Amino acid sequence: MNNEKKQLVLLGVTGSIAAYKACELVRLYQKAGLDVKVIMTKHAQKLVGAATFRALTGHAVATELFDDPGAAIHHISLAEEADVFVIAPCSANVLNKIAHGIADDLLTTTALATTAPFICAPAMNVAMLKNPLTHESLKVLDHAGVTIVGPGEGYLACGSEDSGRMSSPEEICAATLRVLARTTDLAGKRVLITTGPTREFLDPVRFISSPSSGKTGFALAREAKARGAEVVLVSGPTELQSPLGVEYVPVVSAQEMLEAARAHFDSADIAIFAAAVADYRFAEQLEEKFKKGAGLPALELTENPDILATLVARRNATNEKKPFVVGFAAETENILANAEAKLKAKGADLIIANDVSDLKIGFASEHNRVCFVTQGSREQTELMSKEQLATVILDYILKKL
Ligand code: C5P
Repeated sequence: MNNEKKQLVLLGVTGSIAAYKACELVRLYQKAGLDVKVIMTKHAQKLVGAATFRALTGHAVATELFDDPGAAIHHISLAEEADVFVIAPCSANVLNKIAHGIADDLLTTTALATTAPFICAPAMNVAMLKNPLTHESLKVLDHAGVTIVGPGEGYLACGSEDSGRMSSPEEICAATLRVLARTTDLAGKRVLITTGPTREFLDPVRFISSPSSGKTGFALAREAKARGAEVVLVSGPTELQSPLGVEYVPVVSAQEMLEAARAHFDSADIAIFAAAVADYRFAEQLEEKFKKGAGLPALELTENPDILATLVARRNATNEKKPFVVGFAAETENILANAEAKLKAKGADLIIANDVSDLKIGFASEHNRVCFVTQGSREQTELMSKEQLATVILDYILKKL
């Protein structure tokens, strides 16, 4: 018999219709060799009985702040015991409360007290999800280092097909295992990441840009930080909140991005250029708004600096081996041939190629599938979430360092 102590998932279940799916999640955790204890809110108990979770987990289900005669302070003992704290499903109510530090029942008090890695799988009606208050709360939690899984799109209990559906138990379990497997293998390393689009202004109100969301770069920054790296994230304008503990350098244009990246390049061990930089800018930037009636504008473009290529050339000129340089190749055709050409032309150590013509994995999608291209090797990944991909990318880079 194996006497090794199992890692403990503390699973919070809230009053969302998806609460029944938490039963399946418990099973998946157990199959993965984890122990599970459950905390339920009052509303969750209206949807699924505490007895169900008690039978599934073999542990008493915690429901009240003051109900455990065995523990002096119940929420603290639960919070300290957990190797990972997961709330799935996380209702709009609990999500918004936690984001504001409200701790008025056992679950929210434990959420505030725990220092374990925290995963949250929201599930709610689409209007609640799209409410700016919920939107803000998600940003706050993301910034605080909470791993947000989903929500995805699909059939909602209110009868519509829309976003707000809890991610599948399989996805939540996979995210939990990833978090538990995290090591500090990047401790002592400095990682520079560029991400997001750049904006090249014609006049004060118009610019050239791309629909890049910046998600891949932010996910890489969060993951590298969680694995112990010192991270500098140079980002063009995005909707995303910078991860806690990461040095965040917001920029707008390609030229600004080059200056910011240059300032941190030499001291980096790894430099990942994930930004979708505009290749061209306007030769002249107008100070006043261009007027419609003034006839067709004669717009002249000029080339932007290639940030990656410029900085690699500088590294090579000084015979430096550092940093290890990673570029992306977002292609619509001849993906691998183009990636290999880019590897050579830019002098990167690794090019991560992906097919942006495929809408499932395109620019603003949550998922991606890539191919790692180095001199003499190609390695294709599965289709996966951008968070999972960040783990896989960093694992790959570490192997090559
Ligand atoms: O040439 P292309 O834009 O396809 O190259 C993509 C790779 O080069 C990405 O890693 C991107 O961040 C980087 N790049 C750059 N500066 C540019 C253009 C691209 O750093 N001006």
